Amino acid sequence: MRTRLTKKLGIEHPIISAPMGYAAGGKLAAAVTEAGGFGLIGGGYGDAEWLGREFAASGNARIGCGFITWSLARNPQLVELVLSYAPAAVMLSFGELAPFAQRIKAAGAMLICQVQTLALAREAVAAGADVIVAQGAEAGGHGLERATFTLVPEIADYLARAAPETALAAAGGVADGRGLAAALMLGADGVLVGSRFWASAEALVPPSFQAAVVAADGDSTIRSTILDIARRFDWPKPFTARGMKTRFTMDWHGREAALAEPATLEREEARYWKAFQAGDVDNTAMLIGEAVGLIRDVAPAGEILHRMVREAEKLLGRVPDAASASLK
Ligand SMILES: Cc1cc2nc3c(=O)[nH]c(=O)nc-3n(C[C@H](O)[C@H](O)[C@H](O)COP(=O)(O)O)c2cc1C
Repeated sequence: MRTRLTKKLGIEHPIISAPMGYAAGGKLAAAVTEAGGFGLIGGGYGDAEWLGREFAASGNARIGCGFITWSLARNPQLVELVLSYAPAAVMLSFGELAPFAQRIKAAGAMLICQVQTLALAREAVAAGADVIVAQGAEAGGHGLERATFTLVPEIADYLARAAPETALAAAGGVADGRGLAAALMLGADGVLVGSRFWASAEALVPPSFQAAVVAADGDSTIRSTILDIARRFDWPKPFTARGMKTRFTMDWHGREAALAEPATLEREEARYWKAFQAGDVDNTAMLIGEAVGLIRDVAPAGEILHRMVREAEKLLGRVPDAASASLK
């Protein structure tokens, strides 16, 4: 399954694992790269010690690292730290690209930009993105409102006109070979997958959280700001995050102002962290996408990737050539 994404990233299969903050460590990124995809460490809000440990855990695998850009802007020296590990790519999501884009490219790393709208895709092209990830609202974690199914072909058309050298990956709801095949048919050159790899053996996720996700169906998630309020993360509007409808989240969803009231917040913040550390799903919050309904097991990341590729190849093999014009 050769595409512009596999050529650009020098990989075998057009699958990137998402830089899920603190869940995607060096072992997961290395396992995805070793299986022929491209693994990203989740730099999240930026913790130098954690980043050092996880780059070490990735061994010599050819991987990259993703940042939450508005948070990185508060701690910009982390870019230099990550570039000192010679990543093959750096991914930026959720914030202004200009302060970092040129530095990343000048260091010889590829620039991957995750976008949620056409306007953000234009900004990513202007910043010199090598790969654009079009993220739909099905996705786990933070994002905006547009759905993958229309966002991807619209950005594919835009790139064909404005930046034909830029590769496109689809994100949001891709958890199996059907999603990969569909993304290619929509004009993407590959996919970026988060939730499915969150439920992998290598992810830094408590087993009780993974078990809850395996048992859940796709009706079990919601976009909200509850987790950000509870963790006191200062997310810019209008971003929201998709996660499980846990009791904690649903206790407060729709009552955000009441949660933010200082005494309540102190109590609920403690409840959130205590439950998080104890693996108590009900009393914490966890980010995950609508793809939960497609996740049936926790498996090694390499096996997940190979299943996805085998299934997509089988499905695409059934498609007449004339209909697969988007497969480059
Ligand atoms: C648990 C979790 C944490 C995430 N953390 C980040 C993050 O720190 N930075 C980021 O750019 N994207 C993050 N994302 C979003 C992913 O980059 C990606 O857009 C998403 O996982 C794709 O949709 P999917 O979950 O349906 O595969 C996260 C997603 C999940 C599920």
